[in-house]
Amino acid sequence: MTVMCMNEIVVSDNLTKRFGKITAVDHISFEVYEGEIFGFLGPNGAGKTTTINMLITLLRPDEGTASVCGHDILKEPNKVRERIGVVFQDRTVDGYLSGWDNLKVHGLVYGINNDALENKIRELLKFVELEEWANVLVKYYSGGMTRRLEIARALLNEPEVLFLDEPTLGLDPQARLHIWEYLLDLKRKKKMTIFLTTHYMDEADRLCDRIAIIDHGKIIAMGSPQELKSMISGEIIYVRTNTPMDALLLKQHLEKQGYSAKMLDRDGVVFVNVKRASAEMPVILELAQRAGVKVAEVRYSTPTLDDVFIHLTGRSLRDERIGSFERIREMMRRWRAR
Ligand SMILES: Nc1ncnc2c1ncn2[C@@H]1O[C@H](COP(=O)(O)OP(=O)(O)O)[C@@H](O)[C@H]1O
Ligand SMILES: [Mg+2]
Repeated sequence: MTVMCMNEIVVSDNLTKRFGKITAVDHISFEVYEGEIFGFLGPNGAGKTTTINMLITLLRPDEGTASVCGHDILKEPNKVRERIGVVFQDRTVDGYLSGWDNLKVHGLVYGINNDALENKIRELLKFVELEEWANVLVKYYSGGMTRRLEIARALLNEPEVLFLDEPTLGLDPQARLHIWEYLLDLKRKKKMTIFLTTHYMDEADRLCDRIAIIDHGKIIAMGSPQELKSMISGEIIYVRTNTPMDALLLKQHLEKQGYSAKMLDRDGVVFVNVKRASAEMPVILELAQRAGVKVAEVRYSTPTLDDVFIHLTGRSLRDERIGSFERIREMMRRWRAR
């Protein structure tokens, strides 16, 4: 390991990418430290994939640059590629090859010597618990198994930084937990540095040492999950009404009483930030009744990263309105990942 790789292992300096009129990534600067899991959390279309594609030297920035393991992505793209492993957002393994052969082809492309390669493949298939599936065609794998194979493949060249673009997109909860375990294991046992993107707040919260929250191509907040959540003090009460009109009415009544209340534009939920939810809940329910607002559901929790996102943008990460193109892509992805 060179001295350059101590501490800051990925440094992004004003990375910018435009597609026509859209600025997909807008002057983004951040550092990833050696051995940490760093996450890009943001809704669909925020610019996560575009950022990753620049860092892994697939896409040329319009402005700014970045370095990975001390190598500039513009000046030494090949050196960067030697040091990294990548798991892409979309599935990229060959369904008509076995798991073993998928890894073998990839290893040969990387120029790994045959004996070393066989040992490495065996070790990695064991790591992602696919030994027994090694000779089965990948088209018979589940979405989670395919993802695990892609992680194994990304580790073949013993990378120093592993990039994963939405590693658990479309997977069921159990398969997601499984993937999380491997990633935490890689960090703990191999001291691997991991850069991942996600639009799942629970994933970012569970895995990441530090998170950059990204929206419309810009980093709008950065810090540990705890630091980000502490942007909101106290607790959050969620009051679900039947219509957005009711929610608006309730919000106005709450604000008149000095509460800090927020609502999203299209559903009937009001978020109230209070010191202690158990004490405030009855007061708020009574207020709703007096305002003539029917309450369908009420619950409370300590702030989540989604609340932080709502606090910063007025929108939720959970039910981001996505374009029909994105929706079709998502459906295709789920269908393929079955
Ligand atoms: N090849 C492309 N051509 C035109 N627009 C693109 C292209 N790739 C991405 N975009 C646009 O750039 C923005 C960011 O996209 P992307 O980086 O894929 O976001 P994310 O990965 O966060 O969902 C979106 O508005 C998307 O439509
Ligand atoms: Mg993406």
